[in-house]
Amino acid sequence: MLCVLIGMPGSGKSTVGRLLARRLGLPFFDTDQLLETSLGCSIREFFEAQGEVAFRDREQGVLSDCLGHADGVVSTGGGIVLRPANRGMLQNALCVIYLRASPEDLYRRLRYDTTRPLLQVANPLRKLKELYAERDPFYRASARYVIETGSPSVAALVNMICMQLDLNPPVGLTAPREG
Ligand code: S3P
Repeated sequence: MLCVLIGMPGSGKSTVGRLLARRLGLPFFDTDQLLETSLGCSIREFFEAQGEVAFRDREQGVLSDCLGHADGVVSTGGGIVLRPANRGMLQNALCVIYLRASPEDLYRRLRYDTTRPLLQVANPLRKLKELYAERDPFYRASARYVIETGSPSVAALVNMICMQLDLNPPVGLTAPREG
């Protein structure tokens, strides 16, 4: 089974993804980490040197590679849904989980962050609200499951995801019924 986590920056995709992978006994892939390894520099440095379009090109390639795995948990960068081609790839994946958080919660988690190039602005909360307004419909259109992050701990979020997967298995993974 391949599970893909999508959502805004700061929604917990990497932390939740790593724990979910451990719980399911699956390998873990993080598109941002894979990108930084292949770029040989931080995402912020690459953005500053080459710009966003070059970054999105590389990101699209990494997503496509990750979706080629049969099994695993994939955490994605928050902007992965911006490209129609990426949304198409996600819509073809069986198990895409949107970790939803409000811009205010995201701001509380990210207000001291210096790694995310898009948030290095005078008013990060306003920027998060703009990004959320643009992206929330894309996340919803790309995901089969929506998990409200709010205040639950990482462990509780992993439990919520596992429960959702049990109650409503990704198509094609339903255990054959006896009788
Ligand atoms: C981005 C989110 C980041 C990273 C890059 C661009 C975005 O990933 O891919 O800085 O466009 O929102 P996280 O969602 O893991 O912060």
